[in-house]
Amino acid sequence: MQVGVPKESAPGELRVALVPEVIGRLRARSIDVLVQAGAGEGALIPDDLYREAGAEIAADPSAAYASDIVVKIAPPSEQEIKALRSGSLLIGFLAPLTSPQTTRALAAAGATALAMEAIPRITRAQAMDALSSQANVGGYRAALLGAQTLGRFFPMMTTAAGTVPPAKVLVLGAGVAGLQALATAKRLGARTTGYDVRPEVAEQVRSLGADWLDLGVEAAGEGGYARELSAQEREAQQQALTEAIKGFDVVITTALVPGRAAPRLVTAEAVRGMRAGSVIVDLAGESGGNCELSEPGETVVREGVKIAAPLNLPASMAEHASALFARNVLALIELLVDKDGSLKLDFEDEIVAGACIVRAGEVVHAGARAALEGAA
Ligand SMILES: NC(=O)c1ccc[n+]([C@@H]2O[C@H](COP(=O)([O-])OP(=O)(O)OC[C@H]3O[C@@H](n4cnc5c(N)ncnc54)[C@H](O)[C@@H]3O)[C@@H](O)[C@H]2O)c1
Repeated sequence: MQVGVPKESAPGELRVALVPEVIGRLRARSIDVLVQAGAGEGALIPDDLYREAGAEIAADPSAAYASDIVVKIAPPSEQEIKALRSGSLLIGFLAPLTSPQTTRALAAAGATALAMEAIPRITRAQAMDALSSQANVGGYRAALLGAQTLGRFFPMMTTAAGTVPPAKVLVLGAGVAGLQALATAKRLGARTTGYDVRPEVAEQVRSLGADWLDLGVEAAGEGGYARELSAQEREAQQQALTEAIKGFDVVITTALVPGRAAPRLVTAEAVRGMRAGSVIVDLAGESGGNCELSEPGETVVREGVKIAAPLNLPASMAEHASALFARNVLALIELLVDKDGSLKLDFEDEIVAGACIVRAGEVVHAGARAALEGAA
Protein backbone atom coordinates (compact mmCIF):
# COMPACT_ATOMS: atom_id res chain seq x y z
CA MET A 1 0.00 0.00 0.00
CA GLN A 2 1.40 3.37 -1.00
CA VAL A 3 0.23 6.92 -0.29
CA GLY A 4 1.27 9.49 -2.90
CA VAL A 5 1.71 13.20 -2.18
CA PRO A 6 1.77 15.36 -5.33
CA LYS A 7 2.99 18.94 -5.36
CA GLU A 8 0.01 21.30 -5.30
CA SER A 9 -0.44 23.17 -8.57
CA ALA A 10 -3.26 25.67 -7.86
CA PRO A 11 -2.08 29.30 -7.98
CA GLY A 12 -1.07 30.52 -4.51
CA GLU A 13 -1.42 27.07 -2.93
CA LEU A 14 1.58 26.73 -0.64
CA ARG A 15 0.27 23.93 1.56
CA VAL A 16 1.09 20.26 1.23
CA ALA A 17 -1.25 17.43 2.19
CA LEU A 18 1.20 15.33 4.19
CA VAL A 19 4.12 16.38 6.42
CA PRO A 20 7.06 14.27 7.65
CA GLU A 21 5.63 14.15 11.19
CA VAL A 22 2.84 11.74 10.18
CA ILE A 23 4.94 9.41 8.00
CA GLY A 24 6.10 7.29 10.95
CA ARG A 25 2.46 6.60 11.88
CA LEU A 26 1.69 5.49 8.32
CA ARG A 27 4.76 3.28 8.11
CA ALA A 28 3.79 1.67 11.40
CA ARG A 29 0.69 0.50 9.49
CA SER A 30 2.86 -0.89 6.66
CA ILE A 31 1.96 2.07 4.43
CA ASP A 32 4.72 3.50 2.23
CA VAL A 33 4.77 7.18 1.33
CA LEU A 34 5.91 8.62 -2.00
CA VAL A 35 6.32 12.38 -2.22
CA GLN A 36 6.74 14.38 -5.41
CA ALA A 37 10.04 16.29 -5.28
CA GLY A 38 9.46 19.83 -4.04
CA ALA A 39 5.94 19.10 -2.75
CA GLY A 40 6.79 20.59 0.66
CA GLU A 41 8.62 23.66 -0.68
CA GLY A 42 5.75 26.12 -0.08
CA ALA A 43 5.41 24.92 3.51
CA LEU A 44 9.21 25.12 3.97
CA ILE A 45 9.63 21.35 4.17
CA PRO A 46 12.65 20.19 2.14
CA ASP A 47 12.64 16.79 0.43
CA ASP A 48 15.36 15.63 2.82
CA LEU A 49 13.00 15.88 5.79
CA TYR A 50 10.51 13.61 4.02
CA ARG A 51 13.35 11.23 3.14
CA GLU A 52 14.59 11.15 6.75
CA ALA A 53 11.05 10.32 7.89
CA GLY A 54 11.08 7.32 5.55
CA ALA A 55 9.37 8.60 2.41
CA GLU A 56 10.52 7.98 -1.15
CA ILE A 57 10.98 11.11 -3.28
CA ALA A 58 10.06 10.99 -6.97
CA ALA A 59 10.84 13.72 -9.48
CA ASP A 60 8.14 12.50 -11.87
CA PRO A 61 4.68 13.80 -10.80
CA SER A 62 2.97 10.78 -12.34
CA ALA A 63 4.51 8.51 -9.67
CA ALA A 64 2.53 10.21 -6.88
CA TYR A 65 -0.70 9.99 -8.93
CA ALA A 66 -0.11 6.27 -9.54
CA SER A 67 -0.24 5.50 -5.77
CA ASP A 68 -3.02 3.47 -4.11
CA ILE A 69 -4.11 6.55 -2.13
CA VAL A 70 -3.40 10.06 -3.45
CA VAL A 71 -3.66 12.90 -0.92
CA LYS A 72 -4.10 16.52 -1.95
CA ILE A 73 -5.31 19.78 -0.46
CA ALA A 74 -6.71 21.83 -3.35
CA PRO A 75 -9.22 20.25 -5.76
CA PRO A 76 -7.34 18.49 -8.58
CA SER A 77 -7.23 19.90 -12.09
CA GLU A 78 -8.63 17.82 -14.96
CA GLN A 79 -5.09 16.95 -15.97
CA GLU A 80 -4.30 15.73 -12.45
CA ILE A 81 -7.47 13.64 -12.41
CA LYS A 82 -6.44 12.04 -15.70
CA ALA A 83 -3.11 11.12 -14.08
CA LEU A 84 -4.87 9.05 -11.38
CA ARG A 85 -4.27 5.32 -11.72
CA SER A 86 -7.45 3.34 -12.23
CA GLY A 87 -8.52 1.94 -8.85
CA SER A 88 -6.66 4.50 -6.78
CA LEU A 89 -8.38 6.51 -4.05
CA LEU A 90 -8.19 10.31 -4.00
CA ILE A 91 -8.50 12.23 -0.72
CA GLY A 92 -8.61 16.03 -0.51
CA PHE A 93 -10.82 19.10 -0.68
CA LEU A 94 -12.98 18.47 -3.77
CA ALA A 95 -15.58 21.28 -3.56
CA PRO A 96 -18.42 18.84 -4.35
CA LEU A 97 -21.16 21.48 -3.96
CA THR A 98 -19.49 24.20 -6.00
CA SER A 99 -17.22 22.51 -8.51
CA PRO A 100 -19.33 20.13 -10.61
CA GLN A 101 -16.56 20.06 -13.22
CA THR A 102 -14.28 18.32 -10.68
CA THR A 103 -16.97 15.74 -9.88
CA ARG A 104 -17.62 15.18 -13.59
CA ALA A 105 -13.93 14.62 -14.33
CA LEU A 106 -13.56 12.25 -11.37
CA ALA A 107 -16.55 10.24 -12.57
CA ALA A 108 -15.21 10.13 -16.13
CA ALA A 109 -11.89 8.84 -14.80
CA GLY A 110 -13.69 6.02 -12.95
CA ALA A 111 -12.11 7.30 -9.72
CA THR A 112 -13.08 6.80 -6.08
CA ALA A 113 -12.76 10.05 -4.17
CA LEU A 114 -13.36 11.18 -0.59
CA ALA A 115 -13.86 14.89 0.03
CA MET A 116 -12.41 16.21 3.28
CA GLU A 117 -15.11 18.91 3.45
CA ALA A 118 -17.88 16.28 3.24
CA ILE A 119 -16.76 14.32 6.29
CA PRO A 120 -19.73 14.49 8.69
CA ARG A 121 -19.08 16.84 11.63
CA ILE A 122 -19.69 14.15 14.22
CA THR A 123 -17.66 13.62 17.38
CA ARG A 124 -15.93 10.49 16.02
CA ALA A 125 -14.70 12.44 13.01
CA GLN A 126 -13.37 15.47 14.89
CA ALA A 127 -9.72 14.50 14.30
CA MET A 128 -10.47 14.44 10.55
CA ASP A 129 -12.23 17.80 10.43
CA ALA A 130 -10.09 19.71 7.94
CA LEU A 131 -12.75 22.40 7.47
CA SER A 132 -12.24 23.29 11.13
CA SER A 133 -8.43 23.00 11.14
CA GLN A 134 -8.13 25.30 8.13
CA ALA A 135 -10.89 27.72 9.24
CA ASN A 136 -9.05 28.07 12.53
CA VAL A 137 -5.93 29.22 10.65
CA GLY A 138 -8.03 31.55 8.47
CA GLY A 139 -9.73 33.17 11.46
CA TYR A 140 -6.42 33.75 13.20
CA ARG A 141 -4.84 35.31 10.11
CA ALA A 142 -7.93 37.47 9.50
CA ALA A 143 -7.59 39.07 12.93
CA LEU A 144 -3.87 39.71 12.34
CA LEU A 145 -4.63 41.18 8.91
CA GLY A 146 -7.25 43.46 10.50
CA ALA A 147 -4.72 44.65 13.09
CA GLN A 148 -2.02 45.13 10.45
CA THR A 149 -4.29 47.08 8.10
CA LEU A 150 -5.83 49.35 10.74
CA GLY A 151 -3.90 52.55 11.36
CA ARG A 152 -4.86 52.43 15.03
CA PHE A 153 -3.86 50.36 18.06
CA PHE A 154 -5.85 47.26 18.94
CA PRO A 155 -5.15 47.45 22.71
CA MET A 156 -5.82 50.38 24.99
CA MET A 157 -2.55 52.26 25.42
CA THR A 158 -1.72 54.42 28.37
CA THR A 159 1.36 56.39 27.44
CA ALA A 160 3.16 59.55 28.48
CA ALA A 161 1.50 61.12 25.45
CA GLY A 162 -1.94 60.22 26.74
CA THR A 163 -4.33 57.30 26.49
CA VAL A 164 -5.78 55.73 23.35
CA PRO A 165 -8.91 53.62 23.57
CA PRO A 166 -8.93 50.00 22.37
CA ALA A 167 -10.09 49.20 18.84
CA LYS A 168 -13.60 47.84 18.48
CA VAL A 169 -13.74 44.65 16.41
CA LEU A 170 -16.95 43.08 15.14
CA VAL A 171 -16.96 39.52 13.78
CA LEU A 172 -19.89 38.51 11.57
CA GLY A 173 -20.38 34.75 11.46
CA ALA A 174 -19.27 32.93 14.60
CA GLY A 175 -18.35 29.50 13.25
CA VAL A 176 -14.85 28.08 13.61
CA ALA A 177 -13.11 30.93 11.76
CA GLY A 178 -15.20 33.64 13.43
CA LEU A 179 -14.60 32.32 16.94
CA GLN A 180 -10.85 32.14 16.31
CA ALA A 181 -10.89 35.70 14.91
CA LEU A 182 -12.69 36.85 18.07
CA ALA A 183 -10.22 35.04 20.32
CA THR A 184 -7.20 36.43 18.45
CA ALA A 185 -8.51 40.02 18.34
CA LYS A 186 -9.18 39.79 22.08
CA ARG A 187 -5.64 38.56 22.75
CA LEU A 188 -4.38 41.58 20.81
CA GLY A 189 -6.33 43.80 23.19
CA ALA A 190 -9.35 44.81 21.10
CA ARG A 191 -12.91 45.10 22.41
CA THR A 192 -14.73 42.35 20.59
CA THR A 193 -18.30 41.67 19.51
CA GLY A 194 -19.64 38.62 17.69
CA TYR A 195 -22.74 38.08 15.58
CA ASP A 196 -24.36 35.05 13.93
CA VAL A 197 -27.80 33.92 12.83
CA ARG A 198 -27.44 30.74 14.92
CA PRO A 199 -28.47 31.89 18.41
CA GLU A 200 -26.81 28.88 20.06
CA VAL A 201 -23.36 30.36 19.42
CA ALA A 202 -24.04 33.39 21.64
CA GLU A 203 -22.70 31.48 24.62
CA GLN A 204 -19.49 30.54 22.76
CA VAL A 205 -18.99 34.18 21.73
CA ARG A 206 -19.43 35.37 25.31
CA SER A 207 -17.08 32.68 26.61
CA LEU A 208 -14.34 34.38 24.54
CA GLY A 209 -14.88 37.66 26.38
CA ALA A 210 -16.81 39.19 23.46
CA ASP A 211 -20.19 40.92 23.46
CA TRP A 212 -23.02 39.28 21.52
CA LEU A 213 -24.80 41.37 18.92
CA ASP A 214 -28.45 40.36 18.70
CA LEU A 215 -30.25 41.59 15.58
CA GLY A 216 -33.28 39.39 15.99
CA VAL A 217 -32.72 37.35 12.79
CA GLU A 218 -32.46 33.61 13.49
CA ALA A 219 -31.64 31.09 10.76
CA ALA A 220 -30.36 27.82 12.20
CA GLY A 221 -30.38 25.22 9.42
CA GLU A 222 -29.55 21.52 9.13
CA GLY A 223 -26.50 19.77 10.60
CA GLY A 224 -25.47 22.75 12.72
CA TYR A 225 -25.11 25.03 9.68
CA ALA A 226 -27.04 28.22 8.99
CA ARG A 227 -29.76 28.24 6.33
CA GLU A 228 -30.03 30.83 3.60
CA LEU A 229 -32.13 33.86 4.65
CA SER A 230 -35.34 34.79 2.85
CA ALA A 231 -35.21 38.05 0.87
CA GLN A 232 -37.18 39.75 3.64
CA GLU A 233 -34.91 38.49 6.41
CA ARG A 234 -31.84 39.49 4.39
CA GLU A 235 -33.10 43.04 4.01
CA ALA A 236 -33.92 43.30 7.72
CA GLN A 237 -30.47 41.96 8.58
CA GLN A 238 -28.67 44.33 6.21
CA GLN A 239 -30.55 47.32 7.58
CA ALA A 240 -29.87 46.39 11.20
CA LEU A 241 -26.19 45.75 10.42
CA THR A 242 -25.84 49.09 8.63
CA GLU A 243 -26.70 50.79 11.92
CA ALA A 244 -24.72 48.39 14.15
CA ILE A 245 -21.49 48.54 12.13
CA LYS A 246 -21.03 52.31 12.40
CA GLY A 247 -19.10 52.28 15.66
CA PHE A 248 -16.58 49.55 14.78
CA ASP A 249 -12.97 50.02 13.69
CA VAL A 250 -12.60 46.52 12.19
CA VAL A 251 -15.29 44.23 10.82
CA ILE A 252 -14.25 40.65 10.06
CA THR A 253 -16.82 38.72 8.05
CA THR A 254 -16.83 34.91 7.92
CA ALA A 255 -20.46 34.06 7.10
CA LEU A 256 -21.01 31.05 4.84
CA VAL A 257 -23.86 28.75 3.88
CA PRO A 258 -22.60 25.45 2.38
CA GLY A 259 -22.97 25.30 -1.41
CA ARG A 260 -24.44 28.81 -1.71
CA ALA A 261 -23.01 32.20 -2.59
CA ALA A 262 -21.81 33.93 0.57
CA PRO A 263 -24.60 35.94 2.23
CA ARG A 264 -24.36 39.67 1.56
CA LEU A 265 -24.19 41.19 5.03
CA VAL A 266 -22.40 44.50 4.56
CA THR A 267 -23.90 46.76 1.91
CA ALA A 268 -22.25 49.73 0.20
CA GLU A 269 -24.45 51.95 2.37
CA ALA A 270 -23.11 50.26 5.51
CA VAL A 271 -19.52 50.89 4.31
CA ARG A 272 -20.40 54.57 3.73
CA GLY A 273 -21.56 54.77 7.36
CA MET A 274 -18.21 53.57 8.74
CA ARG A 275 -15.52 55.95 9.95
CA ALA A 276 -12.71 56.70 7.45
CA GLY A 277 -9.73 54.43 8.11
CA SER A 278 -11.88 51.57 9.34
CA VAL A 279 -11.14 48.10 8.00
CA ILE A 280 -13.21 45.23 6.68
CA VAL A 281 -11.61 41.79 6.34
CA ASP A 282 -13.91 39.64 4.21
CA LEU A 283 -13.06 35.97 4.63
CA ALA A 284 -15.87 34.90 2.32
CA GLY A 285 -14.18 36.27 -0.81
CA GLU A 286 -13.92 32.82 -2.42
CA SER A 287 -17.72 32.48 -2.28
CA GLY A 288 -18.39 35.98 -3.60
CA GLY A 289 -17.84 37.96 -0.39
CA ASN A 290 -19.95 39.08 2.56
CA CYS A 291 -19.39 42.74 1.69
CA GLU A 292 -20.93 44.29 -1.41
CA LEU A 293 -17.74 46.27 -2.16
CA SER A 294 -15.24 43.42 -1.69
CA GLU A 295 -13.04 42.46 -4.61
CA PRO A 296 -11.94 38.86 -4.02
CA GLY A 297 -8.17 38.56 -3.83
CA GLU A 298 -7.69 42.34 -3.50
CA THR A 299 -7.47 45.05 -0.86
CA VAL A 300 -9.35 48.13 -1.99
CA VAL A 301 -10.25 51.48 -0.41
CA ARG A 302 -13.92 52.37 -0.78
CA GLU A 303 -15.62 55.31 0.94
CA GLY A 304 -12.39 55.72 2.97
CA VAL A 305 -12.68 52.16 4.32
CA LYS A 306 -10.00 49.55 3.58
CA ILE A 307 -11.63 46.34 2.41
CA ALA A 308 -9.44 43.22 2.25
CA ALA A 309 -10.85 40.04 0.72
CA PRO A 310 -7.91 37.62 0.83
CA LEU A 311 -8.17 34.27 -0.89
CA ASN A 312 -6.97 31.08 0.77
CA LEU A 313 -5.67 32.65 3.99
CA PRO A 314 -4.69 29.22 5.39
CA ALA A 315 -2.06 28.97 2.62
CA SER A 316 -0.43 32.10 4.04
CA MET A 317 0.46 30.04 7.10
CA ALA A 318 1.39 26.95 5.12
CA GLU A 319 3.57 25.29 7.74
CA HIS A 320 0.96 24.89 10.45
CA ALA A 321 -1.96 24.66 8.04
CA SER A 322 -0.24 21.70 6.31
CA ALA A 323 0.66 20.04 9.61
CA LEU A 324 -2.96 20.23 10.82
CA PHE A 325 -4.34 19.04 7.48
CA ALA A 326 -1.87 16.13 7.48
CA ARG A 327 -3.13 15.04 10.93
CA ASN A 328 -6.71 15.20 9.62
CA VAL A 329 -5.75 13.03 6.63
CA LEU A 330 -3.81 10.60 8.82
CA ALA A 331 -6.87 10.10 11.04
CA LEU A 332 -8.99 9.38 7.95
CA ILE A 333 -6.45 6.96 6.44
CA GLU A 334 -6.23 5.13 9.77
CA LEU A 335 -9.97 4.57 9.50
CA LEU A 336 -9.70 3.26 5.94
CA VAL A 337 -6.81 0.86 6.29
CA ASP A 338 -6.71 -2.34 8.34
CA LYS A 339 -3.83 -3.48 10.58
CA ASP A 340 -1.92 -5.06 7.68
CA GLY A 341 -2.07 -1.90 5.65
CA SER A 342 -4.79 -3.02 3.22
CA LEU A 343 -7.43 -0.57 2.06
CA LYS A 344 -10.89 -1.54 3.37
CA LEU A 345 -13.49 1.04 2.40
CA ASP A 346 -16.54 0.38 4.56
CA PHE A 347 -19.37 2.24 2.84
CA GLU A 348 -21.66 1.36 5.75
CA ASP A 349 -19.56 3.67 7.93
CA GLU A 350 -21.20 7.11 8.01
CA ILE A 351 -17.83 8.87 7.74
CA VAL A 352 -16.85 6.98 4.56
CA ALA A 353 -20.37 7.16 3.13
CA GLY A 354 -20.68 10.89 3.90
CA ALA A 355 -17.27 11.80 2.48
CA CYS A 356 -17.47 9.68 -0.67
CA ILE A 357 -18.26 11.81 -3.72
CA VAL A 358 -17.48 9.36 -6.49
CA ARG A 359 -17.23 5.58 -6.12
CA ALA A 360 -15.58 3.75 -9.02
CA GLY A 361 -16.88 6.44 -11.36
CA GLU A 362 -20.40 6.67 -9.92
CA VAL A 363 -21.38 9.97 -8.29
CA VAL A 364 -22.79 8.86 -4.92
CA HIS A 365 -22.93 12.14 -2.98
CA ALA A 366 -26.38 13.76 -3.07
CA GLY A 367 -25.04 17.34 -2.92
CA ALA A 368 -22.51 16.70 -5.67
CA ARG A 369 -25.24 15.12 -7.83
CA ALA A 370 -27.51 18.13 -7.29
CA ALA A 371 -24.65 20.49 -8.21
CA LEU A 372 -24.01 18.46 -11.38
CA GLU A 373 -27.69 18.54 -12.36
CA GLY A 374 -27.80 22.28 -11.64
CA ALA A 375 -24.81 22.82 -13.94
CA ALA A 376 -26.18 20.64 -16.75
N1 LIG B 1 -16.90 18.07 15.01
C1 LIG B 1 -17.82 18.92 15.37
O1 LIG B 1 -18.69 18.61 16.13
C2 LIG B 1 -17.78 20.26 14.75
C3 LIG B 1 -16.55 20.84 14.47
C4 LIG B 1 -16.53 22.11 13.89
C5 LIG B 1 -17.70 22.77 13.60
N2 LIG B 1 -18.85 22.17 13.90
C6 LIG B 1 -20.10 22.85 13.64
O2 LIG B 1 -20.29 23.03 12.25
C7 LIG B 1 -21.12 24.14 12.06
C8 LIG B 1 -20.57 25.03 10.98
O3 LIG B 1 -19.36 25.66 11.39
P1 LIG B 1 -18.41 26.36 10.32
O4 LIG B 1 -17.41 27.15 11.04
O5 LIG B 1 -17.95 25.37 9.33
O6 LIG B 1 -19.44 27.34 9.60
P2 LIG B 1 -19.37 27.96 8.15
O7 LIG B 1 -17.97 28.21 7.77
O8 LIG B 1 -20.23 27.15 7.26
O9 LIG B 1 -20.11 29.36 8.37
C9 LIG B 1 -19.53 30.33 9.22
C10 LIG B 1 -20.60 30.96 10.07
O10 LIG B 1 -21.42 31.83 9.29
C11 LIG B 1 -22.70 31.85 9.87
N3 LIG B 1 -23.67 32.42 8.95
C12 LIG B 1 -24.22 31.91 7.82
N4 LIG B 1 -25.09 32.76 7.25
C13 LIG B 1 -25.09 33.89 8.01
C14 LIG B 1 -25.75 35.13 7.95
N5 LIG B 1 -26.64 35.40 6.97
N6 LIG B 1 -25.51 36.03 8.90
C15 LIG B 1 -24.63 35.78 9.91
N7 LIG B 1 -23.97 34.62 10.03
C16 LIG B 1 -24.18 33.69 9.11
C17 LIG B 1 -22.94 30.38 10.19
O11 LIG B 1 -23.96 30.24 11.15
C18 LIG B 1 -21.57 29.97 10.73
O12 LIG B 1 -21.47 30.10 12.13
C19 LIG B 1 -21.23 24.81 13.42
O13 LIG B 1 -22.45 24.40 13.99
C20 LIG B 1 -20.11 24.26 14.18
O14 LIG B 1 -20.33 24.26 15.57
C21 LIG B 1 -18.92 20.94 14.46
